[in-house]
Amino acid sequence: MSVTPTTSREWHLVARPHGWPKPEDFALREAAVAEPGEGQILVRNIHMSVDPYMRGRMNDVRSYVPPFELDRPMEGGAVGEVVASRSDAFKPGDHVLHSLGWREYALVEAAHAVKVDQELAPLSTYLGVLGMPGLTAYAGLLEVASFKEGDAVFVSGAAGAVGLQVGQIARLKGASRVVGSAGTDEKVKALVEEYGFDAAFNYKKGPVAEQLKQVAPDGIDVYFDNVGGEHLEAAIGALKLHGRATLCGAIAGYNDTVPQPGPHNMISIIGKRLRLQGMIVRDHQALQPQFVQEVGGWVRSGELKYRETVVNGVENAVDAFLGMLRGENTGKMIVTF
Ligand SMILES: NC(=O)c1ccc[n+]([C@@H]2O[C@H](COP(=O)([O-])OP(=O)(O)OC[C@H]3O[C@@H](n4cnc5c(N)ncnc54)[C@H](OP(=O)(O)O)[C@@H]3O)[C@@H](O)[C@H]2O)c1
Repeated sequence: MSVTPTTSREWHLVARPHGWPKPEDFALREAAVAEPGEGQILVRNIHMSVDPYMRGRMNDVRSYVPPFELDRPMEGGAVGEVVASRSDAFKPGDHVLHSLGWREYALVEAAHAVKVDQELAPLSTYLGVLGMPGLTAYAGLLEVASFKEGDAVFVSGAAGAVGLQVGQIARLKGASRVVGSAGTDEKVKALVEEYGFDAAFNYKKGPVAEQLKQVAPDGIDVYFDNVGGEHLEAAIGALKLHGRATLCGAIAGYNDTVPQPGPHNMISIIGKRLRLQGMIVRDHQALQPQFVQEVGGWVRSGELKYRETVVNGVENAVDAFLGMLRGENTGKMIVTF
């Protein structure tokens, strides 16, 4: 029988980063573990997610999610084991997905937890291929970009959690061509040799527009944007008549202290009747059952491969987050306690 400790380590944001976050902007602190009240569960976290959107929550600006509070535990996706419960919905030993990561033990409102089954899939996958990034890829490609069979697709950030899945879903759904960009030669090689991309390029090795022209000489129908900046401008140039783009992320600018200028070729959006649409994954929850069924099936059959980069130890969570921003991950970056 596991004994619940009296203290838990948790990460606090102690200073708002200006530009790239520094380790001193964070502190790992001990806090008392509280007993669950009525309707609450106490969860021992096993895996937590570090995601690019967390960088935005470190800024004190209005956005689609509120900023992290200073000197309070940060939050984010986590999967753990229920160790104490005052909810009829959960019992000790159950595994749950919830949003109070960045700490060893979390006191969670039962209404905000979702049961997950490690018999169906490894627990970490509920933070990646079968979780929020997976649904982002699925909804962003199929619903937002209105992907259809025969489309030629370009995805940036292609070797990351979302990107790796976008390219493979496009392939499985009958894309005529799937191309991607990533930040190392190893990632580029893996995209083609392991994940079924037709071609890929290292965006650090030359102008994106020129490299995109080489891998997609006939242009693209769909662009899935994880990066923004130069990638978006290049994609606008490569999109064909009535092309569509999902604006999912703009990680190239997340640590900028001065906003980047917008694409210089916006006028071609008019002539080519392009549709560029922003997305936030939580607007697409209605797709969740279909996503779990279809992507879960592909994962089980091996048709869709996923990858995780795992960092061990709660004390290394900030390093994992910063490493993810620097591109040290292939697939989903996970912290395992
Ligand atoms: N809208 C939504 O609801 C939603 C939901 C989830 C994610 N997102 C967005 O989707 C994107 C991908 O998220 P993810 O969770 O899958 O992260 P991820 O791709 O697994 O990790 C981030 C990756 O970004 C790349 N990167 C970092 N700086 C870059 C730069 N200057 N230019 C190009 N690439 C850079 C790095 O790979 P390289 O080695 O290739 O540089 C890094 O591995 C992010 O922009 C994120 O904010 C949006």
